[in-house]
This record gives sequence, C-alpha cells and structure tokens, in this order.
Amino acid sequence: MNIIAVIDFGGQYSQLITRRIRELKVYSLLVSYDKPADYIKKLQPCGLIFTGGPSSVNSADAIFPDDELFSLGIPILGICYGHQLMVKVFGGEVVSGASREYGQTELKVLSDSKLYEGTPADQICWMSHGDFVSSMPEDFRVTARTGSGEVASMESKTGQMYGVQFHPEVRHTQFGMRMLENFAVNVCGCKQDWTPSGVIEAFVREIRTTVGGGRAVCALSGGIDSSTAAMLAHRAIGERLNCVFVDHGLLRKNEAEEVKNFFTKNMRLNLTVVDARERFLAKLKGVVEPERKRKIIGEEFIRVFEEQAEKIGDIDYLVQGTLYSDVIESGSRTAAKIKSHHNVGGLPEVMKLKLIEPLRNIFKDEAREIARELGITDEIVQRHPFPGPGLAIRIIGEVTQERLEILRESDAIIEQEIRGAGLYNEIWQAFAVLPAIKSVGVMGDSRTYAYPIVVRAVKSDDAMTADWVRLPYELLARVSNRIINEVKGVNRVVYDISSKPPSTIEWE
Ligand code: XMP
Repeated sequence: MNIIAVIDFGGQYSQLITRRIRELKVYSLLVSYDKPADYIKKLQPCGLIFTGGPSSVNSADAIFPDDELFSLGIPILGICYGHQLMVKVFGGEVVSGASREYGQTELKVLSDSKLYEGTPADQICWMSHGDFVSSMPEDFRVTARTGSGEVASMESKTGQMYGVQFHPEVRHTQFGMRMLENFAVNVCGCKQDWTPSGVIEAFVREIRTTVGGGRAVCALSGGIDSSTAAMLAHRAIGERLNCVFVDHGLLRKNEAEEVKNFFTKNMRLNLTVVDARERFLAKLKGVVEPERKRKIIGEEFIRVFEEQAEKIGDIDYLVQGTLYSDVIESGSRTAAKIKSHHNVGGLPEVMKLKLIEPLRNIFKDEAREIARELGITDEIVQRHPFPGPGLAIRIIGEVTQERLEILRESDAIIEQEIRGAGLYNEIWQAFAVLPAIKSVGVMGDSRTYAYPIVVRAVKSDDAMTADWVRLPYELLARVSNRIINEVKGVNRVVYDISSKPPSTIEWE
C-alpha cells in the first residue's frame, strides 16, 4: 500500500494530520508511538509523520519512538513535539522558550527546501508549543525562522528528515496543505491514489487475504458503516458471508422490517434476522449507569453473533463497520476514554470470533464516499447515524418497555417533521432523548405529572465535533405539539442547545 504512517505522540491534532494526508488522496493511518519498528515496517509506509504531544522532550515523562525508525531510510516529518524529539535524538538541544510564540506566527523561509516548494518566503504559520531549538543537531540545517528569529523548521543534510515547530495541518497555517503535499508527494514519492475506487480495491483484497477460504459473519445494522463493511466483505468473499441483523428491541420505529426488506431485496445479501428483544431487555433490567449499559449491550451483541456463527458452522471471523471516531472515543493509550462504543470499548474480553474492521481508520464522511461508490443507495448513505446500543443510551435511567415506547414514538415524530420540512439531509443527527425526571403540567383541566422529551439535532462532519442546529421555531412548535398530543406519558418538550465539545451528541 501507498501509506503515510502518522506516529502518534498524543497530540491534539494527531487524527487531523491523517485526515489532511487523506484529503491529498494519499492513504494514511495513525500508529501509536510505542509500536516497534517491525510493526511499522510491515505497513510498508512511504513516509512517517511524528505528531505533536503534550509533554516537553526535556521532561521526565518524555516519550520516544523505536530508534530503528530513523535508520529505515523512510522519509520522516516531525511536527512540533515530533520535530523537537528529532532535535534531541540527533544531538541538538531544546529549551523552554524565553520568547514564547503561540497562535499565528510569522514564518520566514530561508533556503530552498522541498517542503516549501511553491510557497512564498514570508508566510503565516500556527504555533502551539513553548519549547524551541537552542542548538541544532549536527547533520541538519535551518530552513525557516519565526519573526523573532527562532528555528521554525529544519531539514537533514541528506534530505530524508524534516522538522517543523509549527502545525501545517491546521487551517491557520497558510500553506500547510502545500507543505504536507510537498512532503507526501515530492519527498516520499507517494501516489495520490486514495480515491474511493482505489480504497475499495485495497479493502476487498485485504478481507479476501484475511478470510482465505473460510467464512465470516457480518454485523449488519442497516446504517452506513455496517452496510459499507458488509458490501466490501460481500465483494471479497461472496456467498461465504452471512450477515446478521440483531433486533435488540432498542431500534427506531419500523426499523427491523425496513432493514430486512432493503438488504434482502435490493442488496441481495445473505441475511439472518435474530429476534433478541427479550434477552436484551432482561439483561438491562435495573441498569442505569451508562457505561454498564454499553458494556452489557456490547457483550450481548457478540454472544448473539457467536451463536449464529456456531449455527452456520465453520466461521472464524466477524466483520464490523467500526469507524475511527468509535475507536478514538472508546479511549486508547494516548487518548482519554469518553464512552465505550459498543463495537470497541464495549466488547467482551474473551471472544471466539476474530474481528475484521475495514473502516477502522476512516471517518464517516469518507465511509459515505466509499458507500456511494459501492452502489449503496442514498436512502442508506444519507441516513442519520444511529448508535449500536440504540435507544438504550437515549433513555436516561432504566430501560423499560414503557419508556422505550415513549421514546420510539417521539423519535418517529421528530424524524417525520424534519423530513417534512426538507431538512433531513442537512442535519447530521436529529432524535429524541428521554430523561429520568417528571414535571407537572395541565391537560384538559387536570394536573399531569409526566416525562419531558428532549429534542436533539446537530450538524457535524465526522462526529468528533458538532454544533446544535438552529431549527426553525415553527418546526420546533409542530414537533412539540405533536409529541405532547400524540405520545402518552409526555407533557413537555425541550430543545438541547449544546455543542460537542463540551457535550457529546448522545446523552449517555
Ligand atoms: P457521541 O455521543 O460520542 O457520538 O458524541 C458520536 C457519534 O457516535 C455515535 N455513537 C455510537 N455509535 N456505537 C455506535 O455504533 C456506540 O456505542 C455509539 N455511541 C455513540 C453517535 O450516535 C454519534 O453519531
């Protein structure tokens, strides 16, 4: 593969770097800094990028990559912390800046460097670190300085290693994308072939090689991620793929029927629908803690897939549509855990099936492009994301049949009204949440004491950040009227006006 491996030192922009490289049509993935050189060699990258990180290279908790990475002959670009660690490794010195430069900073390019090809001598870059190079490593030369004369970038005399103190991946660095392109294409010689069709071919080949002559089951929810994973696996192993749709009773209104019809009729997939409504509800009885709900659901999903695999026989693999955002939010060695996505952090420790997750390194909007190329219809591609644990994580407190019905009916009204207003495709997700409180109301001259419904609608590109949608008041009024009039047990509707961060999209 034609890959740039981004070696992660825990920087805020680590995944943004991989994303920017892929925007340049070069495949890129994030690899933890502590992976041995052998692991990285197996990826056969044409270039490495060392990310930023929260610590100083001089501190006791400074982290360094496997030394061997420097002698593989693969071009390296160090960014911020990644730049400083190269200075340190090659015998230079870094000090905590006497003259700190944060945010927008002047950049003066000194000499012709491949990294700056096609960019002017004076430009603006974006800094986010207080440490600077005080003494250059011997085999490197300075290629740019900041307005106050600090080393802004360097290059090894062999032209194999580059370091920049600033962040080329953020939009505020005027020619950042050009620099990344110069590195990936001119220095590393990467081909710009990360197009949906190129990606599909690579993923299909990988699945085929992994499964060999065997068989696999695929967890199909009908959403964009699992549908794309299923279609890729179907291309790779055809009839040796069995898709399993689990009706856990936590689905949206009519969802089970719609998914079954769509995939068996339109996509001709080999699909088994498992009615697991009672067993999921029984497991969730009395459970209120969000992380426990997620773990219980994650484990129960796997047990259902294992049972199906056993019934079919001769199955070693489970294909899942896990995305990069599921992985990062479930926590890693360098990133904090926000919540255990059912298909990552919610998985049981012991599993009989081995996982195949072709989309594990990509973002939702990239998955959408791949899906379109695979011929998946807009009905699925444009569908709002729906979490694997379903309505259970939109019911605060205990999940009961009665509360599920209240939420399901309210959710259906929101979707109908948003579709009716022609806004569905402009919104990332719109849904209802049922809190664990009741409030007083008055209906038909009588007092009511009933649940409120929270309406949530957000815009996002990749689920990593999101903003609440400024829905028209008339639409909100219709939604509120209909929910209060049509859904028994609700006497109040409120609108969630929080963005992510600091909130998350789902309430649990
Ligand atoms: P949050 O709530 O973390 O959600 O801002 C980000 C996106 O992920 C979806 N989500 C999940 N998807 N399994 C999934 O398949 C999960 O456990 C899960 N939790 C959240 C959420 O709907 C949003 O699109």
